[in-house]
Amino acid sequence: MSRTFVMVKPDGVRRGLVGEVIRRFEAKGLTLKAMKLIRVSPELAAQHYAEHREKPFYGELIQFITSGPAVPMVFEGREAVTVARTLMGATDPAKAVPGTIRGDFGLEITENVVHGSDSPESAEREIGLYFQPEELV
Ligand code: PPS
Repeated sequence: MSRTFVMVKPDGVRRGLVGEVIRRFEAKGLTLKAMKLIRVSPELAAQHYAEHREKPFYGELIQFITSGPAVPMVFEGREAVTVARTLMGATDPAKAVPGTIRGDFGLEITENVVHGSDSPESAEREIGLYFQPEELV
């Protein structure tokens, strides 16, 4: 059993895709362990995306992720990180194949509906940023 961090980004919340995203993860067999609706603060966004600070898109990414409510979640299951990323599809929705979340619902690289951790280590770090231990059920 492993776990991963997933977040429906502000575009996904705005477009009413929270239920659809959860449905796909649950249908695959992952178990929801924690979830909440929050407005990501600039401070939290900076911690989350610290590794991208030097990237040209950093400012746009921070502006977007703080632009409205988001839904961070923790899912548990076999190979949770890899399975979640497969369900989400490629980072750029224009390249994501149909059948994946980004392939079915996205077109712009900034507004790509959902975030998922890229490794088990990132998952633990991101879970710790967004959740207190007692919030995991
Ligand atoms: S990289 O350069 O390979 O490390 O970047 P990547 O892992 O593909 O993406 C990291 C996050 O940055 C977002 N991203 C962008 N935002 C805005 N504009 C551009 N051009 C852009 N490129 C990448 C991307 O959606 C990733 O967000 P998360 O939340 O991690 O999915």
